[in-house]
Amino acid sequence: MDSAPDGDPKALLKAVDNLSKEDINVIHVGDIKGQLIDEAIQPLKPKIIVEMGTYIGYSAIRLASEALKMEQDVQIHTYDVNAQMVEIAQKMVNKAGLDSVIHIHHGRFHDLAPELQAILGSENPVDLFLLDHWKPSYVPDTQRLMELGLLRRGSLLIADNCLIPGAPEFVDYIQKAPEWNSKMVKTLYRENLTDEDGVIFAAYRG
Ligand SMILES: C[S@@+](CC[C@H](N)C(=O)[O-])C[C@H]1O[C@@H](n2cnc3c(N)ncnc32)[C@H](O)[C@@H]1O
Repeated sequence: MDSAPDGDPKALLKAVDNLSKEDINVIHVGDIKGQLIDEAIQPLKPKIIVEMGTYIGYSAIRLASEALKMEQDVQIHTYDVNAQMVEIAQKMVNKAGLDSVIHIHHGRFHDLAPELQAILGSENPVDLFLLDHWKPSYVPDTQRLMELGLLRRGSLLIADNCLIPGAPEFVDYIQKAPEWNSKMVKTLYRENLTDEDGVIFAAYRG
């Protein structure tokens, strides 16, 4: 990561992608799925983004870079239960020069959601919501956002790893719930592997 210059998110993302080609243990969203996510958010022009599963900050940095091409006042709130990951991600975000855009929260979204509600207020619903953490939490965390009124009609939910490692309860829920209009896009689990994963994109009907 040190090879990337400060304040250059694109170079930093590329350095992580290169590292993941050598190290199978790097579990970031990656460039293949990253491109799908970039394309999905372009028409949305999101200002408020919430992410579950910060890890090393790759997806938050990628989302911020893409959203800032279209909007000035982008805020990302990203959550992780692992203190070590929070520390690494903060260093990555600082290196990318995005510390005023990306706010990293240590803890479970379920517990910290009222705090987010207070930060955003009733005028600023979440435009984009990325689920990339513990698969059994996908359904309760989605429902928590809905219960607290943090979504708007047209808010976009993106859920990674729906087939590998798999989130069968979430897939069943999102396909049946009348509040959501969802589709699954099949894609490679990661570069250099042939296994197929599924990313769900779902629009909130309100
Ligand atoms: C697959 S990684 C996220 C990858 C990241 N989105 C990226 O592309 O760089 C999953 C992360 O979710 C975190 N995690 C696991 N359970 C969680 C939970 N209940 N709430 C928040 N984060 C959680 C893990 O600590 C881990 O860092």
